[in-house]
Amino acid sequence: MSFSIQFSHAITRRPADSITRGLRAVDTGNPDLALMQAHHAAYIAALRSTGATVIELPPLDAYPDSVFVEDTALCLPQGAVIMRPGAPSRLGEAAEMAPQLRTLYRDVVAITGAASFIEGGDILVTEGEILVGRSARTNAAGIAELARLVAPWGHEVREVITPPGVLHFKTDCSLLDPGTVLSTTRLSASGCFSGYKVIDVTEGEEAAANTIRFNDLVLMPAGFPRTRDRLDAAGFTVREIGNSECAKIDGGMSCLSLRFTPS
Ligand code: GLY
Repeated sequence: MSFSIQFSHAITRRPADSITRGLRAVDTGNPDLALMQAHHAAYIAALRSTGATVIELPPLDAYPDSVFVEDTALCLPQGAVIMRPGAPSRLGEAAEMAPQLRTLYRDVVAITGAASFIEGGDILVTEGEILVGRSARTNAAGIAELARLVAPWGHEVREVITPPGVLHFKTDCSLLDPGTVLSTTRLSASGCFSGYKVIDVTEGEEAAANTIRFNDLVLMPAGFPRTRDRLDAAGFTVREIGNSECAKIDGGMSCLSLRFTPS
């Protein structure tokens, strides 16, 4: 059983009406809620089609970005860690997720340092290590605190750097199988994936790098045919999911769920 790609559960949260106020680096227009809901439903159906249990949480209007549940917690086989998001408007989202995880896990701990900031989107869990990208949302204090919390569970944290101007580390990469990473060239060129097999997304298709491997499927954002061809050729079973509305507020496949097998 590979805990980095096989999961019995996922948690999602329905997008709220306030999604139109979601954070974004560049304003390309507001997301269309109805279309986002349709994409979200297709995403959840794909997760469920693998046999997993998907817990759908209700919308949180007070938190426009709360559909992006991944940023609120890190879920490992031994326990869950509640994050401390670096975006001030998102800080309260983590407290909203904590009670849910306590019903599923025996061990739930939290990042609590006043100077510590860390978001799940910056964390890539592989079989042998946890890579955490320092970014505008995740700082060294947050990474060091995470390393202390997960060490007793046998996990090693490696600090890496998110490319400048990129929201999260996993905006630019994802794990395809325990030894293979999908990455943008701007990230893989840093050498941070030495020891892994790397499939680079096609130039111009950087937004395809944020996929998820969930059980037998790779969920990828729709509309990146050349990267899709690379994944097909490498033997992955790919499901394309519409992401046009999440993309307007810098969200992708990984942001939309927490994926785990509770202990
Ligand atoms: N809109 C997603 C984020 O900025 O966290």
